[in-house]
Amino acid sequence: MEKLYPEIKTALPGPKGQKIIDKDLAYSSPSYIKAYNLVVSHGKGPWVYDMDGNRFLDFMAGIAVNSTGYSHPKVVDAIKDAADKFLHICGTDFFYPSMSDICERLANFVPGMGKKKVFLSNSGGEAVEGAIKLARYHTKRSNLISFKGSFHGRTTGCVALTTSKTKYRAHFGALMPGVYHTDFCDPYRDPEETEKFSPAINKLNELFETITSPKEVAAIFVEPILGEGGYITPTKFFMKELRRICDEHGIMLVFDEVQSGNGRTGYMFASEMHGVYPDIFTTAKGMASGMPLGAIVAKEEVMTWGRGTHGSTYGGNPLACAASLATYDIIEPLLPTILELGKYMMGRLNDLKAKYHVIGDVRGSGFMVGVEFVDPTTLAPASEFMEEFEQLGFTKGVLFLGCGTSTIRLSPPLIVTQHEIDIMIDTMEACFKELMPKYKY
Ligand SMILES: Cc1ncc(COP(=O)(O)O)c(C=O)c1O
Repeated sequence: MEKLYPEIKTALPGPKGQKIIDKDLAYSSPSYIKAYNLVVSHGKGPWVYDMDGNRFLDFMAGIAVNSTGYSHPKVVDAIKDAADKFLHICGTDFFYPSMSDICERLANFVPGMGKKKVFLSNSGGEAVEGAIKLARYHTKRSNLISFKGSFHGRTTGCVALTTSKTKYRAHFGALMPGVYHTDFCDPYRDPEETEKFSPAINKLNELFETITSPKEVAAIFVEPILGEGGYITPTKFFMKELRRICDEHGIMLVFDEVQSGNGRTGYMFASEMHGVYPDIFTTAKGMASGMPLGAIVAKEEVMTWGRGTHGSTYGGNPLACAASLATYDIIEPLLPTILELGKYMMGRLNDLKAKYHVIGDVRGSGFMVGVEFVDPTTLAPASEFMEEFEQLGFTKGVLFLGCGTSTIRLSPPLIVTQHEIDIMIDTMEACFKELMPKYKY
């Protein structure tokens, strides 16, 4: 097969792209971020083409969504086949095969949770909202705990849990009451976080002593790898302690695997990576290769809500279910390769770290890897550097995306090859060489 490379033939954006940007900015909500001026025409595998014929290599997968790449033929065929049969019937009220198939499939992942039940939603946020309701319904308690720096979505319930940036919360108050935030385990920023000891767990215990009794807490929400907040991997000790504390006090441990799930870490779900299992988990993003689908998966004894207590008109839409079944068929056999190539990618990133001291930390698993940029003398986050790096990568034909204050998240489609990883690394190096004289790191 022909080996592809990024190809930039016009100024960015090109003239056709510029017209679309102008129209979009005239009519679309000013709240959209639009990280850079990419105007997509079509894509194939991990390659994206813009309206002016420029070719980009994607290492952010539409924010960790395009797990099988852009329009994988098996996924597209599954969607077309489902569309030929019927577009909608409402899974909350009626039955169809793809919905029962995808619920069965999800219930069989994460063996450490025992027997499970599944609720299907349209998005990650809708899954998290449902998990809040389920945890409260099941425990008959109302307080919730989440971690500083976490991102759980933008709807009003989700945003009460979210603290990755003030702008997600400012002027949207008063937010849902009964939510308390405490420190996440960040072993790079706090070297006292080890496999034997966790200051973040001590903070959680302090919260129980001073702010809310654990007996009033319905759930602790945690991302097994912090996503938007900076691709931060906590220690196994921290995760195990959360499990122990939740067991001791009858609190639901909820893993938000919207970003970390569906093969991204080289494990189907990151709970397996930690060897710690939740009572409830939420997922979305990569599970249907870009079709809108999310899920709440809970232990059977936890999903106790009765008939009609919760539902969704479109959740589990037949096209999305068909796309998801095809997606899992592609992802499941790929898991060992994702782990292996992820190690290769980390190895090459660590070589760069030895050369370019602006890289403070390289962390993650599989294709969920964070590269944190810092001022090497003070270790202060190099946010401006990261933003410039992201834009420069775009002009060189590789799509990078930042997260946290100064981290580049590497979350490519799960089908990338070593050749594409090498292109990404070489482009990173070219960016460092260009930026170094300006920043003098
Ligand atoms: C961990 C996590 N939870 C929830 C969400 C919200 O998902 P959605 O944008 O599909 O509502 C996101 C989105 O980035 C996420 O990363």
